[in-house]
Amino acid sequence: MVSITGDMSPLHPDRNLALELVRATEAASIRSVPFIGRGQKEVADGAAVDAMRAFLTTVNFDGVIVIGEGEKDNAPMLFNGEHVGTGRGPKCDIAVDPIDGTSLTAAGRNNALSVIAVSDHGAMLDASTVFYMDKLVTGPAGVGVVDIRLPIGENIRLLAKALGKPVDEIVVSVLHRPRHEQLIQEIRDAGAGTRLMSDGDVAGGINAARHNARTDMCVGIGGSPEGIVTACAIKALGGHIQGRFVPGNDDERQRGLDAGLKVDGEVYEADGLVKGSNTIFVATGVTDGQLVAGVRREGDFIYTESVVLRGSSGTLRRITSEHLASKWL
Ligand code: FBP
Repeated sequence: MVSITGDMSPLHPDRNLALELVRATEAASIRSVPFIGRGQKEVADGAAVDAMRAFLTTVNFDGVIVIGEGEKDNAPMLFNGEHVGTGRGPKCDIAVDPIDGTSLTAAGRNNALSVIAVSDHGAMLDASTVFYMDKLVTGPAGVGVVDIRLPIGENIRLLAKALGKPVDEIVVSVLHRPRHEQLIQEIRDAGAGTRLMSDGDVAGGINAARHNARTDMCVGIGGSPEGIVTACAIKALGGHIQGRFVPGNDDERQRGLDAGLKVDGEVYEADGLVKGSNTIFVATGVTDGQLVAGVRREGDFIYTESVVLRGSSGTLRRITSEHLASKWL
């Protein structure tokens, strides 16, 4: 039950923090404008990281970065363990993905987002030692119904039944990677359709969990950081998310074990990925997507569209902003 006043405790991330954080994802998107479709993914990411870091220093909270972006390919990053914010206000864990979809941005393709997720301090799983995670995301209909341990065909049949629609109307999104060839075949063999994503499984997961979006389920192996970030959003959407780490080799497996992670196929439920429901997820579009429109400059103005999701109130707010371009040049 949500009270009208919401969570008033300054110990927890609250709605004011959520709205403040949008400024940081807006800034990251705006700074990436000169690089959209220009083939320079690391430069775009660097500009977004710098803008996000600069704005985060002005936000009233005591944030500790649990998930920074960049370990995989030495991209510029906000470092794990780095403190962000003014140090006043609630102590929080924070995950940043200044651009989820750096290749999409460089190519000018759809679905790149600038993202920040926040939880109570100590609530977010530090997934930084194992890069890949197998994930299963659906909307509320899948809660208590689907399970990542089941064959995909079985999950599709169960979800179709729970949604009250035929299997051939189910659409499953999955990253288009050679590692998913068999998974894609099994989805099609079960009678469902696929939406193959070239990148960007944060947007893919959220779209699968949203009411009336055009996909019903998002599955497959993507980044672990993206899994944690997605879990923060799923808390607000009432959806289902499970993940299990997929270490690439023995060294990575050992690093995961040393960090206290379960790395041998054990499943993390939503609360294992991020504890409780005091979560915030904010995202601003970098390139156009189904969730939000991409940032665009037209004459004297720069336009952004963002979403703000709060786990404690179960809300998804949409914020459109017009920015005077001269202030950003
Ligand atoms: P980046 O923006 O960091 O490049 O991540 C894009 C992305 O597609 C994520 O959304 C996804 O989780 C991950 O990369 C998948 O990794 P890979 O490209 O190695 O399959």
